[in-house]
Amino acid sequence: MTNIDRRTFVKGLGALAGAAVLAGCGGNSNKGDDKAQSADSKDDSYTLVTPGKLTVVAELGFAPLEYMDDKTGEPLGFDVDFAKALGKKLGLETTYLPNQKYDTLIPTIQQGGKADVAIAGITINDERKESVDFTDPYLDSNQAIVAKKGSGETDQSLNDPSKSVVCQSGTTGDEWIDEHLSKATKKPLDEVTACLTGVQTGTFNAFVIDLPIAQYMLKNSFPDLEVIKEIPTGEQYGVAVSKDNPKLTEALNKAIKELQDDGTMDKIETDWFGAAL
Ligand code: ARG
Repeated sequence: MTNIDRRTFVKGLGALAGAAVLAGCGGNSNKGDDKAQSADSKDDSYTLVTPGKLTVVAELGFAPLEYMDDKTGEPLGFDVDFAKALGKKLGLETTYLPNQKYDTLIPTIQQGGKADVAIAGITINDERKESVDFTDPYLDSNQAIVAKKGSGETDQSLNDPSKSVVCQSGTTGDEWIDEHLSKATKKPLDEVTACLTGVQTGTFNAFVIDLPIAQYMLKNSFPDLEVIKEIPTGEQYGVAVSKDNPKLTEALNKAIKELQDDGTMDKIETDWFGAAL
């Protein structure tokens, strides 16, 4: 390489780096242009894994919140419509990473670099708040104990070492078993359908899961199972965001408020739960 060549080459790299910085700014918000010039641009902008996109990570086996459309392989559900509506408010295209195990979602957001948000019916709680930030709540939920119809099981009868109680690993149902059915034999699994099938075939005596999901799954696919107890845990779902990206949490909170005020949340609730909740 001659000196001149080298200079041109280095200059080219400089231009590339400049373009990357600009692309970063552009991706920060739909108002990127004026912000890039303003002195406090850094303070009120957020970062995105891919400029122009809201990249979501989820566990997609949790109907009707998030699941895969068998035919298209696309994610569907309440949370998916919510994620798309959030993206739209921010002027971003919402895109999903491939399905991930539920107990990997918070670590993925905490580590950063792969997804901007985890939206997966994630209950806001203090322990998780140590690892990630949450937006304001967007949906209320409770837990349920599911067993075979006519099993005669109760929360008392299940609290015994001879009884196996299944849950999705890393969920609040998993924790609830530790606290309230501490004598039962707990079996954490990765997939909700495996939990339900296991109760159906008699491998497990019961399953602890979020009530809205239990109701939907039983009605649509597991008519021989029933909710034997509703547990009023008073949980609230939030969007998990990296602690390094507080401006994204702020922008999402604004968007959630707008979606609540303009009737979009009611519409999505009616579409997936049959009524605004
Ligand atoms: N709400 C419960 C929790 O936060 C369960 C969420 C499970 N979500 C899922 N997409 N599998 O632990």
